Amino acid sequence: MYHQATFDEPIVIDIKGRRTLKIPHENEGYKAQVPEEMRRETIGIGDREEFSVIRHFVKLSEMNFGADTGFYPLGSCTMKYNPKINDEIASLDGFRMIHPLQDSSEVQGALKLMYELSELLKKITGMDEITLQPLAGAGGEFTGLSIVRAYFECKKELDTRREVVVPDSAHGSNPASSHMAGFDVVQVPSTSDGTVDIEKFKEAVTERTAAFMITNPNTLGIFEDKIVEMADYAHSKGALLYYDGANLNGIMTKTTPAKMGFDIVHLNLHKTFSTPHGGGGPGAGPVGVVEKLKDFLPYPLVTFDGEKYSNDYIPPKTIGKVASFYGNFGVLVRAWTYIKMMGEEGLRDACENAVLNSNYMRKKIQEFMPVPGKTIKKHEFVASSVGSGMPKAGDIAKHLIDNGVHAPTIYFPLIVPEALMIEPTESATKEEMDLFIETVRQSLKVSHEMFEKEPVNLKVTRIDDVDASKNPKPTLRMVRKEQKEALQQII
Ligand SMILES: Cc1ncc(COP(=O)(O)O)c(C=O)c1O
Repeated sequence: MYHQATFDEPIVIDIKGRRTLKIPHENEGYKAQVPEEMRRETIGIGDREEFSVIRHFVKLSEMNFGADTGFYPLGSCTMKYNPKINDEIASLDGFRMIHPLQDSSEVQGALKLMYELSELLKKITGMDEITLQPLAGAGGEFTGLSIVRAYFECKKELDTRREVVVPDSAHGSNPASSHMAGFDVVQVPSTSDGTVDIEKFKEAVTERTAAFMITNPNTLGIFEDKIVEMADYAHSKGALLYYDGANLNGIMTKTTPAKMGFDIVHLNLHKTFSTPHGGGGPGAGPVGVVEKLKDFLPYPLVTFDGEKYSNDYIPPKTIGKVASFYGNFGVLVRAWTYIKMMGEEGLRDACENAVLNSNYMRKKIQEFMPVPGKTIKKHEFVASSVGSGMPKAGDIAKHLIDNGVHAPTIYFPLIVPEALMIEPTESATKEEMDLFIETVRQSLKVSHEMFEKEPVNLKVTRIDDVDASKNPKPTLRMVRKEQKEALQQII
């Protein structure tokens, strides 16, 4: 029987400290730099003892569920186990204590790591040059599409090439980044087998197309086997091909985006190359490009002259900077450590086991729930709970987490109704996968009345989804204001 730990833990600024933290006065020089009206004697938070702070965060962590707690099959998010050696290496003083403004002669080790990581990622993707700067997948997309824009601007074709073509199975960040980079989005439908409709694709890709953007395997976990034909066709129209590498773990070491015909690639280091990334970060979304796009990459790039590493190369037609300093350096250290530790053989094993686990689960789930699209999947698959007597995907998800099994991604991709997007990753055991499958099977027997009450074993029980989205209160100030107003009404 599962019960999540439950504490009535106040937020950190409400923990009572014993003293009031005073701003130290040893250095009176600060006064000269801070305008008078902005100076304070205290910083408005109690001075909490170390143990209060530690207990606070340990309790919060116990109310949480992460890849270190258990099986976490969140499709598209790749919540694999992240080896602790990555964190140990990233915590070494030589990496942790350096400052980005230090002279390059003092940070040769860090620059070497960045240079080596770029070389490794070039090999894995087949791209000719890489920037490590973007801070996440979506940041990589925006960087890549800004490169597309700069390339066509340079060719004086930007006035006519206004469109980015994306499949209807795409992750929401693809059309969003295209729009942010100033392009119009043209959507191509998928066929019932879950892959891009090639006839519709050919209608959509024209001389107005700047880029075709796709992830392969796609968000249904299906390998787009007409990718070379699509790449040739898009190139024949003068467009570029953008690879959303969030799903690279389904193909790494087996093929490369370059072999499929892509010109630009972003990778999600925090997924494929193991950095813990719950709650939206931290991440890194390096972008690789083919030779003809090298000059547009963000600056600076790390170079090596045979003796020393420098971080000052500015590509001649650079789009500028997309993040400060080295990007999310800690994530780069973790990815470098992971790739070095795994080696090519280890990465191949990770890819094969992720695909094997996904198909094991897909086969079992298919016994009682439809899994649309082509049969064989890569690292993830999407089931649909639409059908006679089936509960809603959201109800199944709540039943799972109420029983200590983390829910899959639900309601994405949008082309599958009542979608449950399941990605076991290579780090799942057979026992964990079987427990998940069994709990989903059991959820089909749960009554509607019971579903309405679940979850009952968690700190946060059933919330009002409609109110949460129509009337969101994302800041503490908003919550407090509402509480105060409610109190005033009572008084
Ligand atoms: C297929 C796909 N593309 C792009 C992204 C965006 O990546 P990030 O969340 O790092 O911005 C995701 C994230 O889940 C994804 O699954």
